[in-house]
Amino acid sequence: MSDGDSDFDFNDTDGSASESQDVDMQSVTSSLASGDVSVYSFNPTRDGNSLLRHVEGRMINAQTDLYFMPADEVEFRRKEKQHLLHLVSLGRLYMQKDKVQRILAPQAGEQKRILDLGSGSGNWAIGMAYEFPHCLVVGLDLAPRTSVIPPPNCRFEFDDFNKGLSHYYESFDIVHSRSTANGMKDFDWFIMEAAQCLKPGGMLLIAEGSTELLDHNKQIQKMAFGQGGPGESWMARSLFECYNTMKRRGSSIDACTRQYEVMHACSLLTDVGTKVTLVPVGPWERGSTPEETRQKEIMGVLMRSVFTELVRSLRPLFISEGYPPALVEQFIEESGKELSELRLHMYAKWYYAWATRVPHGNDGSSSFG
Ligand SMILES: C[S@@+](CC[C@H](N)C(=O)[O-])C[C@H]1O[C@@H](n2cnc3c(N)ncnc32)[C@H](O)[C@@H]1O
Repeated sequence: MSDGDSDFDFNDTDGSASESQDVDMQSVTSSLASGDVSVYSFNPTRDGNSLLRHVEGRMINAQTDLYFMPADEVEFRRKEKQHLLHLVSLGRLYMQKDKVQRILAPQAGEQKRILDLGSGSGNWAIGMAYEFPHCLVVGLDLAPRTSVIPPPNCRFEFDDFNKGLSHYYESFDIVHSRSTANGMKDFDWFIMEAAQCLKPGGMLLIAEGSTELLDHNKQIQKMAFGQGGPGESWMARSLFECYNTMKRRGSSIDACTRQYEVMHACSLLTDVGTKVTLVPVGPWERGSTPEETRQKEIMGVLMRSVFTELVRSLRPLFISEGYPPALVEQFIEESGKELSELRLHMYAKWYYAWATRVPHGNDGSSSFG
């Protein structure tokens, strides 16, 4: 979306398109059908039916079945909470503060650019655009949020990163991607594509959550089956089934534990670093100072809400994968009860990783030399 279409009504699909929209419609649909790289200026009346579809009462992108999570306001609000969680956890929008700020510092004669791959609700991209007003920020997504007007130095594009990003090679100072592995067909390939979007010296920032929960002893949390039992978690079970269904669809949902290894092996990247953060699920953990306790409480409340709503967002995926509706309702209800009653003290695991694009001539490839 780059033309300020902020008033998208998902019901506005009665086909009353204007003449100019008809012309545009032709180019949108032919581009979709041809399987070419897709970059569009979003128009709600024209594009609603082509780019989004209704499934089980939710709105889902119409470009691929690999990423089968909703792209509606309910889901965007869930992502907003997850965005806040990272803000509290990192203390800012990004890891590696000094390096990122040095790379993005204004420089005469150079336009600094930031790319967010899988921008979702757009909060990260918009936040970066406000923090670095001299930078251009591009958020790319299968179905970006269209209800928020970004600042003038930020725009959103409908695009599928699995189709390749050659149109962006060597264009960005920072490339960021968070919680997108479940829409990636091949994580190793994705890292290479993302690295190629960087200018030499630019930085890649990746964050992924694990689908494995830990118990209060930091051991793998036991899952609930059948009617469930003491110490067993329905949330852990729902995440396990989420992992299974997404893996079956061919996604890289398990990428988080491989981030460091894959980035380290990428010939275009150097100075690779990683950090793992444990986030309490619910406000149960105390810190060693009142400030730390407060921070853990805030993160815990946000994580609990994100997970409770995640199980609901997984409903279309579970149903389309043939799970009995009653079992899916059991996942939703039991996870919700377990989390709201704070029955178990669990942790979620977040993996952050970063790396720098090697300077020209050090990448072993002639095309960039
Ligand atoms: C769980 S959300 C995370 C959103 C955002 N990065 C954040 O952290 O709040 C994953 C996002 O990645 C997008 N996505 C998944 N697969 C994609 C693909 N192949 N190309 C572009 N975007 C994709 C989805 O549409 C969704 O908005």
